[in-house]
Amino acid sequence: MSLEDTPEEIATPAPAVGRISARAVLFTLVAVALAVAAITLYAVPVWAAVTVVVLLVALGFFARSGEEPARRRPASAARAGGRRRPWPDLGVKIVVEAIDEPCIVVDAGGAVRWFNREAASRVPTLKRGDPLSFAIRVTALLDAVDTVVALGRSETIEWLDKVPTERWSQAHFAPLYVPPNAADGDRPPDFVMIRIEDLTEARRLERMRADFVANASHELRTPLAAVTGFIETLQGPARDDARARERFLAVMAEQTARMKRLIDDLLSLSRVEMRAHLRPEARVDLCEVLSHVVDLVGPAARAQEARVEFSGCDAPRAVRGDRDELIQVFTNLVENAVKYGGDRIEITARDEGGHVAVAVRDHGDGIDPVHLPRLTERFYRAHAETSGAKRGTGLGLAIVKHIVNRHGGRLDIVSRLGEGSTFTVVLDRWGGGEVNKKQ
Ligand SMILES: Nc1ncnc2c1ncn2[C@@H]1O[C@H](COP(=O)(O)OP(=O)(O)OP(=O)(O)O)[C@@H](O)[C@H]1O
Ligand SMILES: [Mg+2]
Repeated sequence: MSLEDTPEEIATPAPAVGRISARAVLFTLVAVALAVAAITLYAVPVWAAVTVVVLLVALGFFARSGEEPARRRPASAARAGGRRRPWPDLGVKIVVEAIDEPCIVVDAGGAVRWFNREAASRVPTLKRGDPLSFAIRVTALLDAVDTVVALGRSETIEWLDKVPTERWSQAHFAPLYVPPNAADGDRPPDFVMIRIEDLTEARRLERMRADFVANASHELRTPLAAVTGFIETLQGPARDDARARERFLAVMAEQTARMKRLIDDLLSLSRVEMRAHLRPEARVDLCEVLSHVVDLVGPAARAQEARVEFSGCDAPRAVRGDRDELIQVFTNLVENAVKYGGDRIEITARDEGGHVAVAVRDHGDGIDPVHLPRLTERFYRAHAETSGAKRGTGLGLAIVKHIVNRHGGRLDIVSRLGEGSTFTVVLDRWGGGEVNKKQ
């Protein structure tokens, strides 16, 4: 479909055929008379005949070229039922085509007059000349077109589609007058331009932000309530009970440590998010990072009677990254393996093409596959029933995922119930290629 085409132009038969034939007959008669005169007067029949033929052909072309404007002119002023049905001019069409969101132009009667490629892919049943209601069933949107035609002012509406997937949309309606300054208050607009915006992603982010605030306050409120309760007890009934005081103070220390850890994790997450687009470029030896992590997690592992085995580091394995952040990644993974895994944890580093892969494997209970897709979400815990010191904040793997993403790396999780889990981090080797992201 070309920008100059409109259905009427295509459908309207050429109206000026009769007039053109008369003109052609007249030209033919004149040419024949000239030929006869040439033969008689100059007596060179061949050259005279050639002259006449060339003249006739030229006249024929001339007559046909005059035909086009005559055929097209009445179509642009197409009429339906005596009422003028204008079509958007080239300028409107060019603007509509240039908009990178679905955009549809309807006339004052609600018939579709023009739409762009984005509109065609969002609403495949759209057809020029059809009423808009044939293709779109959103009542609020159809009503808004009527309102804009009746009042001649812009409108905006929002709606939610539930099928095939949940999708929030917003439509902006603008009245169009031809020419642009023709709005006189009494006249309805010639067209209404509808631009449809997809709000789904914005709504998802809004919901995520709201959930995040709700989760963070909930996580803080529980230890805070415990600490407040113990303070009241110590000020009141247990004021002179030395043994109770010792016990309560220990619990209070544990709860405040939990609050501190939560706040540290939140700050860490926001720091990584703030630098998400900045790729760390330093040379880091992963083997040095891993042995540092093994030392850090050692006491916790010994307390759980877990053995940590570490292999693949006979030589340094340099990657492109940020040392502190990588320490955070592997501390989280090894801590999880100690907390949720069995008594044996294996850490293996190996080369994988232009990358270095580090796998942290445990032989614990494993994770139910239903949890796997959500494991790296903030505050998500697969073992909701876990309590006490073992109960985490659910932020560890979210931090891991953000850091790995910032490094242009990949996090793979494989887990089988009853067999344990393997968390593998793949990073660019120093001087190697880009990691092919799966997540
Ligand atoms: N190795 C593992 N084996 C079994 N389950 C695991 C393992 N690692 C993580 N999980 C599950 O994934 C959840 C999310 O882990 P994540 O590290 O994000 O949070 P957390 O350990 O609960 O808290 P945090 O790490 O912030 O202290 C955990 O609550 C646990 O249910
Ligand atoms: Mg954790």
